[in-house]
Order: sequence, then structure tokens, then C-alpha cells
Amino acid sequence: MTGFPVPTMPAPPVGVVGLGQLGGSLAAALVRAGRPVSGWDTDPQAREAAAARGVRITRDLSGVVVLAVPLPAMATALDGLTVDPDATVTDVGSVKSPVLGTVGAAFGSRFVGGHPMCGTEHSGHEAVDPDLFDGARWAVCLEPDTDLSRWLRVTEVALDAGAEVVPLTAAEHDDAVAAVSHVPHLLAAALAAAAGEAGPLALALAAGSFRDATRVAGSEPAFVTAMVEGNAAPTAEALARVQAQLGRPWPELVTAGHAVATRPTAQRSVRAPLDRAALLALGRAGGVVTRRLAAFVEGRLPQEG
Ligand SMILES: NC(=O)c1ccc[n+]([C@@H]2O[C@H](COP(=O)([O-])OP(=O)(O)OC[C@H]3O[C@@H](n4cnc5c(N)ncnc54)[C@H](O)[C@@H]3O)[C@@H](O)[C@H]2O)c1
Repeated sequence: MTGFPVPTMPAPPVGVVGLGQLGGSLAAALVRAGRPVSGWDTDPQAREAAAARGVRITRDLSGVVVLAVPLPAMATALDGLTVDPDATVTDVGSVKSPVLGTVGAAFGSRFVGGHPMCGTEHSGHEAVDPDLFDGARWAVCLEPDTDLSRWLRVTEVALDAGAEVVPLTAAEHDDAVAAVSHVPHLLAAALAAAAGEAGPLALALAAGSFRDATRVAGSEPAFVTAMVEGNAAPTAEALARVQAQLGRPWPELVTAGHAVATRPTAQRSVRAPLDRAALLALGRAGGVVTRRLAAFVEGRLPQEG
């Protein structure tokens, strides 16, 4: 040991398949960060828009290949494309276990699942925003057979895009997002549909709380359906927990919800070794990775007490 930091490998190129809201935004963010970015989309307009942002349009992909297509297209998105045999393959799909079962089965230890926790109710290349990932959480999956060096390559893509990385397994991801994303989509739909039944007077009076609670009901229905049906069992369990909460006496329910919504959010800086167990422990404790160094990662953990 010299005591000097060991230089990390130069960042590999990134190839993005699907240049809509998520993929186009990622490609634009990475071009801005100085990474060489190529990409492909079946829609010629999405290709043109990405090319205008500095993306090299090609069917030949290498380095870190990111699948940013709708969930039903994940398993076949690489058909007809050439992927370098040493490329690391990742995805940004909102559900992780089904993608692990298809793309993961095809690419083995070269696959690392991912999910940036950002995005809007808009879709397509018109919704591209290079700032989309700034400060967002990005789940990057560490399964028992994940190659840690490839996990780090995917983590570096997320960090270069401006996000903070949460290490976790696909199953942990699907349980967690059922509670904080998939059930909220269903509740937003239920609130909007019930308000519609309440009639035009109620809708005319709808203001901030209704707008905030129903914003995601404006998402493309096919996208939401693919997401909740792709994560059906964890979503049903999380929905049952919400239904149980609704059965509590209202003062008790309101107090319990308020306590979680206003909990202290102070955090402290931490370092974790490049070790699967340590990284997963960081994720399970609510921590994030913010920087990769040669022998460890830097991050933050919620402050205890
Ligand atoms: N929208 C969100 O809020 C959000 C957030 C996080 C993750 N995601 C995930 O990101 C992925 C993409 O979502 P999006 O919102 O960017 O969708 P989008 O509709 O904006 O973009 C998808 C793009 O993929 C292209 N495409 C479709 N099939 C293709 C194929 N076989 N090969 C190449 N390109 C193809 C489409 O032409 C389109 O440009 C989904 O898997 C979704 O689950 C979405």
C-alpha cells in the first residue's frame, strides 16, 4: 500500500436503448457530463431528437448498455442490435424481478438491474430533461451473483447523471416501490375516479391537496398498468397495508401519518467498503452512495435519534 489513491479505470461509453423521457434524459445528462453516449430507438423522431443532443445513433452498443424502453419491450429490446460481448447491461424499468428473470437470465453476471426514482407523468422524447436525475435516488441491484465491478460501472453511470445510488436486491426494490410508488399510482387513480363520481361541483373546487394527491393519475395508463401488473404481489400486499391503515380511528391514523411525513431527515456522511454485504447494509438503513473512490464508496445515512 502506497497510501495514494489507486486510479479507477476510464469511464466506458454508454449505449442507451429507448430515447424517450428516461433514456433521452439520461443520454442528455451523460453527454453533458462528458461521457461518450450512443443510442437507438425504434422511433425515428426520438433518434433525431437524441442526435441533436449529441448522441451517436447506432445499432452497435458497448460499455454500459442501458435499456430504457417500456417494461413489456425489455425482453426483446436488444433483438436486431449488436452488443459488445464484454458490455455490462442494465435497465431503468420500474419493476426489477421480471427484468431480472428475462434480461438477467440472458446476460447472467453481465446484467445489473437499475431504477432511477424520478420521471414525470409525461412521456416520449418531448419530455426529455437533462436535469431529471439531479439529486434523484437510483436503485442499483446487487444480487448474490452480481459482478461487483459491473455494479460499480452502472453506479458510476447513475452518479454521472447526477443521481445518488441505493444498493439493494431486486426483491427488496419491488417490495419498497410497491409501497412508495405503485400503491400511490393506484390511490391517485382511485381518488380521481371517486372525485369524478362526486361530480362537476367537486371537481370545480378541487385545489392543492387534490392536485398533489392525483398528479400521477395523469401518467400514460399503459405505463402504469405495466408497472402495477408487473409487480402485482408486492403491490397487493402494500395496498392491503394501506387498507388496514384506513380502518384505524381517524385521529390515530392522521397522527401516525403526520409522524412519518414530518420525521427528521438529518443525515451523516459515511464510507462503505466495496463489499456486497456492506453496500446492501447501507441501502437497508436508508443510505445512499454519492461517490465512488478506488477502494470504497462515500455516501450518507439517516442520522439516528
Ligand atoms: N416515466 C417514469 O416516470 C419512469 C420513471 C422511472 C423508470 N421508468 C421506466 O423507464 C422506462 C422507459 O419509460 P419512459 O417514461 O422513458 O417511456 P417513454 O415512452 O417516454 O420512452 C420509451 C422509448 O422507448 C422507445 N422504444 C419502445 N420500444 C423500443 C424498442 N423495442 N427498441 C428501442 N426503443 C424502443 C420508444 O419509442 C420511446 O422513445 C420504462 O421501463 C419505465 O418503467 C419510467
